[in-house]
Amino acid sequence: MDAEIRQKLIDTAKRAAKNAYCPYSGYAVGAAVLTDDGNIYDGCNIENASYSLTICAERVALFKAIADGHKKITAVCVYSDGGKLPYPCGACRQTLSEFAEDACVVVTDGKEEIRTTLNALLPNKF
Ligand code: THU
Repeated sequence: MDAEIRQKLIDTAKRAAKNAYCPYSGYAVGAAVLTDDGNIYDGCNIENASYSLTICAERVALFKAIADGHKKITAVCVYSDGGKLPYPCGACRQTLSEFAEDACVVVTDGKEEIRTTLNALLPNKF
């Protein structure tokens, strides 16, 4: 992925993490997805007192893109400086894979930066 776009995704995800609603975990996450036509959508995690209704930052960003008419994504960045690297959970990997042939994935806490792909994170997807 182009370095400039990667930086833009990281900046967007970092900014989005500020809007996280995470009173139960205290773990704020921001995400940014890049659509195949070059648009960027952001998202943050949104928790709920009924814990299982929580939605991750990645799916919020993805669903914003889809609801806006963009059904293919080519990259995703996940940011959290909450103490551990925010690798996408299994549910997010599967959900993202519905809308990507493959995608670049950047996982960062602002210091460490992991670059991988969705297919590497979710091999043999259904
Ligand atoms: N979370 C995300 O938003 N994305 C991830 O990649 C990992 C986990 C959220 C869900 C929950 O609000 C909090 O982080 C703790 O699990």
